[in-house]
Amino acid sequence: MTTNEATATHQPTPHVVVEDLTVRFPNRNQNPTTIVDHVSFKLDRGSITGLVGESGCGKSVTALAMMGLVDHAEVSGIVRIGNRNLIGMPEAALRSMRGKVVSMVFQEPLSALNPVLTIENQLAEIFRLHQGVSRKATRKLAADMLARVGLSDPERRLRQYPHQISGGMRQRVLIAMALACKPKLLIADEPTTALDVTVQSQILSLLRELQQEMNLTILFITHDLAVVSQVCQKVIVLYSGRIVESGTVVDLFHHPAHPYTRGLLDCLPSGHQPGQPLSEMPGLLPDPAHRPTGCAFRPRCQWADTACGEQEPPLEPIDGESDHLVRCIHPLTGAQT
Ligand SMILES: Nc1ncnc2c1ncn2[C@@H]1O[C@H](COP(=O)(O)OP(=O)(O)OP(=O)(O)O)[C@@H](O)[C@H]1O
Ligand code: SF4
Ligand SMILES: [Mg+2]
Repeated sequence: MTTNEATATHQPTPHVVVEDLTVRFPNRNQNPTTIVDHVSFKLDRGSITGLVGESGCGKSVTALAMMGLVDHAEVSGIVRIGNRNLIGMPEAALRSMRGKVVSMVFQEPLSALNPVLTIENQLAEIFRLHQGVSRKATRKLAADMLARVGLSDPERRLRQYPHQISGGMRQRVLIAMALACKPKLLIADEPTTALDVTVQSQILSLLRELQQEMNLTILFITHDLAVVSQVCQKVIVLYSGRIVESGTVVDLFHHPAHPYTRGLLDCLPSGHQPGQPLSEMPGLLPDPAHRPTGCAFRPRCQWADTACGEQEPPLEPIDGESDHLVRCIHPLTGAQT
């Protein structure tokens, strides 16, 4: 085996490549507001990558842009799945990709389901649309899919409406719907946020099982780093529409290099003494229409100095060719992390 072949064996071609993804919404009184700003990352086939950050940092807009579902906005960059770039693809072609190539579990389980249709009608619609199978066959496929996501008595569930089942069951139905046409990439937007801890852990186990069974690539969106540590291999940290740090879970949890990642980790309940208040990160995300000059995290950063206000730091490897990237001119070192 040549050296190149050996390298190729150890570094699989990324399954999903996002390059310079930028989303700008029109703003009545001023220039368009950039919500997702030149976001670039790669997802390996069959991996689970977490996309994390505070509420409003642009996680869902990134996901929707990857699905071609952002309306009334300028979207640019590349979202390549396999060998096809979804950005700029005609709507008809995009529709045929959704479900079969890329699928999404949306953030709000109740509003993502149609309240006036039974579970059967909602699942059957997907099978009919994408696979053109008969009504009788769709019932069997739908019941099998519900059983696959761990719902007991699938025949009964098919006859029920979304309000007649629990939040955890609704989330399983949404996962079943997203996976019905065996997509290659699943984007799960806060799939466990509305659930209690026990149900959350069941849904996380289910996603891990399905990922292995179907060799799925998953982009797992959450604001909860504790969840990331349970399911993901890699993590991307977003702040005000830009990636500020990315790397393996081990890199980010054991050696966070960006002060924002460090702040998010400090807010985790683990490591706190019972009875002590949880830490809170001071300050708020900047208004995307009025980001500070230089580093966007500067107003909240205890390590900020005048150099941090001069220009936006680039996203760079921590050292040499490391896959651990950070956007900070004074990345944290061993003693600070
Ligand atoms: N259609 C839109 N037009 C203008 N601004 C928008 C639009 N959709 C989202 N935004 C803005 O984009 C920013 C990012 O929103 P997004 O929903 O992606 O946040 P998020 O990271 O998913 O937050 P959360 O954790 O609360 O779900 C917010 O400031 C939001 O107000
Ligand atoms: S560039 Fe400066 S302000 Fe920004 S995170 Fe790094 S130290 Fe803090
Ligand atoms: Mg969101």
